[in-house]
Amino acid sequence: MIHSSNIRTLRTHIQQWKQQGKSIALVPTMGNLHKGHLALVDRAHQLADITVATVFVNPAQFDNPDDLNAYPRTLDSDARQLQERDCDLLFAPDTQVMYGDKPSPTRVEAGAISTQLEGESRPGHFSGVATIVSKLFNLTTPDMAIFGEKDYQQLLVIRQLVEDLNYDIQIIGHPTVREADGLAMSSRNGYLTTEERLAAPMLYSTLQWLKQQLRQGNNNHSELLTQAKNRLAEHGFKPDYIEIRRQKDLQHPNNNDQKLIILASAWLGKARLIDNLAFQTGDLD
Ligand code: PAJ
Repeated sequence: MIHSSNIRTLRTHIQQWKQQGKSIALVPTMGNLHKGHLALVDRAHQLADITVATVFVNPAQFDNPDDLNAYPRTLDSDARQLQERDCDLLFAPDTQVMYGDKPSPTRVEAGAISTQLEGESRPGHFSGVATIVSKLFNLTTPDMAIFGEKDYQQLLVIRQLVEDLNYDIQIIGHPTVREADGLAMSSRNGYLTTEERLAAPMLYSTLQWLKQQLRQGNNNHSELLTQAKNRLAEHGFKPDYIEIRRQKDLQHPNNNDQKLIILASAWLGKARLIDNLAFQTGDLD
């Protein structure tokens, strides 16, 4: 695996692969890799000739400096794991390489889908994501890029970015990888104490409970969401949002919408956990 932290080396390798007619898949990450990230790398490996992974803790998408400083940085072990997965190139630049020291660099403004849910709780977050992802697309010019459905709203923001800015890149969403007890894998799970870790799967089980209620025809959304929030609060969570939306654009569903998604974010101790569950109202399982 080539391990590069500078743009010139990255571009040289990309150009060589392009000249050889190889297809390239990009997997952008902020590092501290877990099985969720590695599943994206495996998927990239299956779909393209060349897998490029990036590790960059992007200051532009953090609305809170403490959160940015505390974010786990484990580049050596990340590089080892990527090497074991036959990743071809790891690009892990520092902030200076990505942003220089301009006081006010150009930013990409994310589209309509970014204003609610995560966007409302974390002002500026999706503009930071859209900016860094655009830069990584420009630097690596991939044929495809893989993103996790765990960050469902981010996936939709990026699909809209690609459409609106005319990137010729196929965006592939990969299902959420979970621990055996249902907790979605996340770099932030490391912030949980032993006791909180035991309570953490309650977030996903609450989403499953909500789905069950909706499937059984219980259509009083506001009552259901209140019950779900109470359930979480009883287990030590501080819910941020829980919403039932439609999958395609995250708008509130009307009676004809069948493809729904429940999205939630809640604090548990120092960790802000997010999760979602997509389903179709007519499904039988
Ligand atoms: P990060 O949180 O490191 O996640 C990198 C990618 O891994 C994202 O596409 C995310 O959705 C995916 N991912 C994380 N946990 C997952 C899980 N349990 N199952 C499946 N996929 C999972 O998301 C970011 O970084 C950043 O915002 C980034 C896109 C890199 C831009 O800075």
